[in-house]
Amino acid sequence: MELSHRSFDLRYGLQTRGRVERAQLDIPKPVQDRVTRYEASKTRVFSHILARLPVAPDEFTFIDLGAGKGRALILAAEHGFKRVIGVEISPKLHSIGQDNVARYTSRTGNRSHIQLLLLDVLEFAIPAERTVYYLYNPFDEATTAHVLDKIAGSVMEHPRDVWIVFVFPLCGDLLNSASFLERKGEGKIWRDHYQIYKVRTAGWAPYGEKEDH
Ligand SMILES: C[S@@+](CC[C@H](N)C(=O)[O-])C[C@H]1O[C@@H](n2cnc3c(N)ncnc32)[C@H](O)[C@@H]1O
Repeated sequence: MELSHRSFDLRYGLQTRGRVERAQLDIPKPVQDRVTRYEASKTRVFSHILARLPVAPDEFTFIDLGAGKGRALILAAEHGFKRVIGVEISPKLHSIGQDNVARYTSRTGNRSHIQLLLLDVLEFAIPAERTVYYLYNPFDEATTAHVLDKIAGSVMEHPRDVWIVFVFPLCGDLLNSASFLERKGEGKIWRDHYQIYKVRTAGWAPYGEKEDH
């Protein structure tokens, strides 16, 4: 049976609940302007979406861009991803995330490799692996565009299966205009809209360049 947020935290001794507005985050003001806020993925929304993602988790790395206190990382490990990476910009949230992951792995013995990085996503180096990226409304459109460009460039250089899940996407125009993204699914559960994309390995050109026909 799926657990509610409270039961999920209680079962594993975690602390993933609560909302932290961006003004309360321990990051410099100019960076705060690019951030939305902290709020964890809902456990049932996460399971609903992952059940609609046509990938074998044990063949993929799961990367949460804007990982917060680590709830989605732990849910991804439960889902069976072989490797799980979280990128978080707030030192405080990152530290809570580390505690949560340590408690979870010691209580459950889950053997997924979970790695947390304290980093601005703009500095994150895209690994050349089969990956599911997960973005739960983490940052502004300019940051999203920058990250998507890096992912698309990496897939062009090393063609492979890369999927991107957006929950609550606030940058619909950007996603619709990105020719390297192929929409594979969308839906709404409770108040959370989500979209699932696959990154094209061919048939698109970087912005400003013409495609050869
Ligand atoms: C809405 S929360 C989502 C938390 C988590 N992904 C989950 O689903 O439970 C968004 C998170 O993104 C982080 N974030 C925002 N901008 C970031 C950036 N530029 N680099 C890394 N993390 C960022 C915020 O600090 C916040 O913890």
